[in-house]
Parts: sequence; structure tokens; C-alpha cells
Amino acid sequence: MSTRSGLLVRYLLVSLLALASLSGGTAQAQDFKRGKKLYALCSVCHGPGGHGKLAQKAPALAGLTDWYLVDQLQKFRNDKRGKHHLDVTGMMMRPMAKTLTSDKDVEAVAAYIAGLSPKAPTVTFKDTDPEKGKTLYNVCIACHGDKVQGNEELKTPPLRHLDDWYQLAQLKKFKAGMRGADPTDAQSAQMRAILAAVPDEQAMKDIIAYQHLVANGGAAEEKGKP
Ligand code: HEC
Ligand code: HEC
Repeated sequence: MSTRSGLLVRYLLVSLLALASLSGGTAQAQDFKRGKKLYALCSVCHGPGGHGKLAQKAPALAGLTDWYLVDQLQKFRNDKRGKHHLDVTGMMMRPMAKTLTSDKDVEAVAAYIAGLSPKAPTVTFKDTDPEKGKTLYNVCIACHGDKVQGNEELKTPPLRHLDDWYQLAQLKKFKAGMRGADPTDAQSAQMRAILAAVPDEQAMKDIIAYQHLVANGGAAEEKGKP
């Protein structure tokens, strides 16, 4: 009798566990489906693979982490990013983020995007000096990492897969106070402060050129060797 009820309890436990993992799996599949469905609108500007479109000034999203995507989408939704009257591209994106009507949808679309495969960043700048950029990158390294990989604790995004034109545009926006205009945006305030150490547009381009070398396997280090 006791063995039988013991068996019964075990059987019930096993089936309960199986049921739980099954519904977990289904919930995940549903979130993926929801994220994919929501991404249909985004793909008009960011491309079906999330690789961005220069014509729309829409950045590559593939390669960004889910927590950073959530942070930025919430900033757009809460009018912390893309509100400055001169920030034309930010103002294009802000209403798009507002089509995501719940935190759950924000998380679902971010999870979907985080699963897309990144591409190598587009290099459009000529006349850059990655060696100079390497020295300048020393002021970025503590926050964005030696592999330009970002840091979740510091809330710094990976920059590895960002096209040069997008990154330059953002650096100029930080410097001009168009991004980070909201006094409660503590992360952007850090970026704005650090850019005092970057003298001009050429320096920004050199930093970006250095990052791209690091992202593509550290050729700058090789070049620097005697
Ligand atoms: C009409 C074109 C357009 C559509 C549609 C659009 N975006 Fe954007 N998105 C942009 C532009 C332009 C930017 C660059 C904003 C800037 O310059 O600060 C951007 C920026 C972003 C960023 C910031 C990336 C970063 O590196 O900080 C995220 C995240 C983003 N979009 C996600 C989405 C999602 C998710 C959707 C769909 C719900 C979407 N976008 C739909 C044009 C668009
Ligand atoms: C004190 C830490 C810190 C330092 C140093 C720092 N950053 Fe950042 N950076 C951040 C944070 C935090 C963000 C995210 C801002 C936000 O939430 O909007 C960011 C965002 C960025 C972005 C926007 C990326 C995107 O996807 O839109 C770029 C580009 C960038 N940093 C480049 C640099 C460069 C280049 C340097 C060196 C000159 C640098 N950062 C130094 C903390 C830092």
C-alpha cells in the first residue's frame, strides 16, 4: 500500500513537472511568435535581419543585447530619448517605440532582436587613423570594454556591430546635448561628460575606426607592433 501510494505520488510529481516544462516551453514559443510579429513594423527601417538601413538612418540592431534594447525602447517610450527638437532621427523612432503598448511587448521584441545574427559593421569613412583612435579609445575602455563588447552592470552597450555613420551621429548628438537632454537620463549624462575628452569629429572617426579593427580581430594591435 505505502509503496503504491509512493509510486502514485512520484507519478503525479513527474507528470506535474512535465506539464510545467511543457507550458514553459509554450510560453517561450508564444513570446518568440509575438516578438517576431511585432518586429514586422521595425523591419521596414531596420531591415528583416536587423542590419539597419542607411537610407532611413536606422541603425543595425542585431548584435545589441536584450537589456540594452529594452532600456532604449523604454527611453523612447518615456520621452527620454528622441524628444529634442533638433533630433530628427530620434523623433522618427520615438513614435515607433510607442506602438509597443506594454512592457511585455517591449521585452518580446527585444528578445526576438537579440536572437538575430549580427553582421560586420559598414565602414564608410576614409582618411581615418586607427592608431590615434587606439590611444583615444583609452577613455572609453573602462566602460565599453577592451573588445568593445559593452558591460551590463554599467549599462554600456556593445559598439562592435554599429555602422560607423550611426556611431558618429550618436557621438555628435551626445556632444551637442541632443541625446541625453533629459536630466534623469543618468547613462547619457556619463557619455556627454566623457566626450569632453574627444576634441573633434576626426577624433571620433579615428576611435570608431579603431573599434572596427578590434571587432574584426585586432589588426590594430598587429599594426602597432614593431
Ligand atoms: C520609420 C523608421 C523606423 C521604424 C519603423 C523603427 N525604427 Fe527604430 N530607429 C529608427 C531610427 C532612425 C533610429 C535612430 C535614432 C537616433 O538617431 O537616435 C532608431 C533607433 C532604434 C533603437 C536604438 C538603437 C541603439 O543602438 O541605441 C532601437 C532599440 C530601435 N530603433 C528599435 C526599434 C524597434 C523595436 C522597432 C519596431 C517596434 C523600430 N525600431 C522601428 C527608425 C525606425
Ligand atoms: C563612464 C562610462 C562610459 C564611458 C567612459 C564611455 N561610455 Fe559610451 N556609453 C555609456 C553608457 C552608459 C551608454 C548608454 C547610454 C544610454 O543609455 O543611452 C553609452 C552609449 C554609447 C554609444 C551609443 C550606442 C548606441 O547603440 O546608440 C556610443 C556610440 C558610445 N557610448 C561610444 C563611446 C565612446 C566612443 C567612448 C569613448 C570616447 C565612450 N562611449 C565612453 C557609458 C560610457
